[in-house]
Amino acid sequence: ATVGDHGVAGPARARGGALASRLGLTGRVLAGPRPRNLRAQVRAVPHGSGAALAAERRMPAAPADATSRYLYEAGGKRIRPMLALLSAHLGAGVTPAVIEGATALEMTHLGSLYHDDVMDGADVRRGVPSAQTVWGNNVAILTGDLLFSRASQIMARQGERAIRLQADTFERLVLGQMHETVGPQEGDDPVAFYLQVLADKTGSLIAASAETGVVFAGAPEEYGIPLRTFGEKTGVAFQLLDDVLDLSADPDETGKVPGTDLRAGVPTMPFLLLGQERDEASVALKTRIDEGVARIADGADPVILDAALAELRDHDATDRTRRLAHDWAREAVEALDPLPDGPVRDALKRFSEAVVDRSS
Ligand code: IPE
Ligand code: IPE
Ligand code: MG
Ligand code: MG
Repeated sequence: ATVGDHGVAGPARARGGALASRLGLTGRVLAGPRPRNLRAQVRAVPHGSGAALAAERRMPAAPADATSRYLYEAGGKRIRPMLALLSAHLGAGVTPAVIEGATALEMTHLGSLYHDDVMDGADVRRGVPSAQTVWGNNVAILTGDLLFSRASQIMARQGERAIRLQADTFERLVLGQMHETVGPQEGDDPVAFYLQVLADKTGSLIAASAETGVVFAGAPEEYGIPLRTFGEKTGVAFQLLDDVLDLSADPDETGKVPGTDLRAGVPTMPFLLLGQERDEASVALKTRIDEGVARIADGADPVILDAALAELRDHDATDRTRRLAHDWAREAVEALDPLPDGPVRDALKRFSEAVVDRSS
């Protein structure tokens, strides 16, 4: 068993586990002599946590059960519960409350994927056709809503603070998606605006996962802000690298079609940094991408952007995005300074490093 495969069965389990190990979660984050004890505990728990996720996801009626099972069984790296379990070791360890918190947070993430693929018009998720391509938009949206309801029910069992964490996190996630959709307004700097979108849509949930130790395991309150800051910055770093991978990675590894966001007109950091360049070649490339996006919106085949996106992949703007991801990961680790030196802090540091050093 690994920390990456929370109870997923069969081939999906193998896929989730493979993704996690490529990200370095199984070996790298818990490497070295110091965390031996931590490693044993975190590894022992996923069965419990995975079983919890599987059980909590179950729906009473057949269609909802099948649709909510679908992306859950398709895999996923499970980085949020892993972070939650790690941070729990700053407090009482992996208690039943921690398992519930971790389960609810991963379920919130899962629900957001159903909605995100509708919004982004993405055809593939976790290596399988996205939910709305199988059942249509309405069923995909409703499945996401069901998962959000379940996540709230789990949090309600843990009391007011847990509910507030869930509600505040979800509000930020939704606002991040909303701001990304609506785009920057007059006077907004596009790059700063985009970084805020990343902090909200992705950083918020990873921050909540990192804060699990304080909220669910009774770790000292003064660890709360360092852990939140760590999670949020790691989340931004994670998304920035996602933007790089969106252009460069092998679809067999990412389980997604390269350039999906850009083709659908969703800006990513390499594209925004390209927009800051004033040299002729960069301006021309930006114009080609803008025109391609407009034609795709009018019904043209998305492959018309293949060549332009390959150029963007090899442009300095993509390299700058990768460096920016590393900067955010470094700042994330610096936020952990107030935490005691020890295996948990070591593992969190490696977690952040692994996030910007992955290929899927
Ligand atoms: C994908 O998150 C959605 C984002 C917030 C970037 P992950 O990359 O953690 O997705 P899974 O769970 O491994 O599929
Ligand atoms: C997903 O962001 C964020 C949430 C689901 C909240 P993206 O749209 O950038 O992520 P992928 O590339 O589809 O996983
Ligand atoms: Mg998306
Ligand atoms: Mg999206």
